[in-house]
Amino acid sequence: MQRRTEENHHRQTNTRPMKKNTSSSAGTIQQIIPHQSRSILSEVEQKAQRILNHNLVLVKHHGKTYCRTVPSKQYYTHQWNWDSATVAMGLVHFHPQAAYDELRALISGQWENGLIAHITYNPDEELYYPQADKWRTQQFWQNGVPTSGITQPPVFAIGVEYVYDHSPDKQAAEAFLEEMLPAIIRFHEHLKTYRDPEDKGLMTIIHSWESGTDNSPRWDSVYAHVDLDKIPQSVKEDVNLHRVDDQIGEVSHRPTRENYYRFMGLIDMYAKWDWDYHKIVARSPFAVKDILFSSIWARANESLARLLKKVGRYEEAALYKEWAKQTKQAIAGTWDAEKKQYTDIDVSQGRKEKIAEPTIATFVPLWAEAVTDTQLPKLIENLTDPKTFWTPYPIPSTAINSPKFEIARYWRGPTWPITNMFIIEGLLRYKDRHPKAEQLAEQLIDSTLEMMIQNDFYEYYDPTHGKGEKFNQKEIKEPTLHFGFADFSWSAAIFISLYERYRKH
Ligand code: DGY
Repeated sequence: MQRRTEENHHRQTNTRPMKKNTSSSAGTIQQIIPHQSRSILSEVEQKAQRILNHNLVLVKHHGKTYCRTVPSKQYYTHQWNWDSATVAMGLVHFHPQAAYDELRALISGQWENGLIAHITYNPDEELYYPQADKWRTQQFWQNGVPTSGITQPPVFAIGVEYVYDHSPDKQAAEAFLEEMLPAIIRFHEHLKTYRDPEDKGLMTIIHSWESGTDNSPRWDSVYAHVDLDKIPQSVKEDVNLHRVDDQIGEVSHRPTRENYYRFMGLIDMYAKWDWDYHKIVARSPFAVKDILFSSIWARANESLARLLKKVGRYEEAALYKEWAKQTKQAIAGTWDAEKKQYTDIDVSQGRKEKIAEPTIATFVPLWAEAVTDTQLPKLIENLTDPKTFWTPYPIPSTAINSPKFEIARYWRGPTWPITNMFIIEGLLRYKDRHPKAEQLAEQLIDSTLEMMIQNDFYEYYDPTHGKGEKFNQKEIKEPTLHFGFADFSWSAAIFISLYERYRKH
């Protein structure tokens, strides 16, 4: 289904050459934007726009039509929460109305209790597993819109602010904002109530899918407590019979079968508990204070506070600013000085165990400006170490010297454009507080764009840029530079957003 193409001033093809990288004191990163790539940026942007058009699905349901951009028609054929908020940031640059519609569709299934689920299902699509009915959430569906029962990092408010700020028609943007504010507030109140019952600022996730980084080594020690023997046989059989991601995608890139049993075992348990989040948070074998989720939460509350100020609601704005501040302080408090990183905390069933896996999550506090002046140089040292994160195509989702690093497996090594964008924005917040922050952000913008120019819009990429052997990775028979599903919406959207803001003019 093609979106109506709308010409506007963002569609100009005139581009200035990309900034040349100054020689890097940050490690071994190569000169990443070769000259020939610079001239094709606007062409690649048009391709990115075509992908977003191609991935639009118009869903007619209960007398309403929803415009949903699916992450990839190869497999992810519904609407994902944080994908969608990011997709809107790309759409607004060439079709603002489509950005509004995307976020409208995202909130169409918001539960009475405020949850914006991680998946809003397209009722006619059956390809993706687990299908809507597996969640047993029917009693919570609003307007008949089928959803999952968990959430995802709350990029939503940030997406709304971005769309508002980049909308060429201010009147339309204001109407859009009025429409979105109640949904954001209900979502944030929901998260605060159920995911921070202690009121200390760190947010509890109840499934690794809520982290967005589903299969990260961060979750290994937690999943070790999700006893495979206690997962009902019927759940395992369902996975055995119906799981398809490992057939449509490359099996060696996807989460293991055991982990799928755990993913689905948790869903089954929560459905049996009627999606009572107080109970789930208190009793689940998977309850973790997630540093990435919390960082986005803090950043989203800043967005919400600014949005409320725009409409003159100063008192409420002060509350969400306070929430952001509280979370930032709590994030700073998880710092592990020896490992030069922030840590998640496993709080399942009364545990209180630090999780200090070296992953991309540790850099997302930059985006929330949660990093203190003493932590900052150490964190940047970690980021720019060629032995950990500063690879030819940074930033790998797991440090390349970690025994858990896997070059192609989902969130266990590859580089993702989305986390790069968070960290670019984060570094820019620190440009006056660290001498390398701005230069690193510039390099990351270039490398992220280049990664997509060279390898197309895939879900994720080889951080070693084909030099896997050097990094001790023997499992890839033929070097591939991109992985996961093709024509991936948020990669396309991030390309558009980075190009439009940082490299077009
Ligand atoms: C999947 O199925 O891989 C998704 O990431 C879950 O949200």
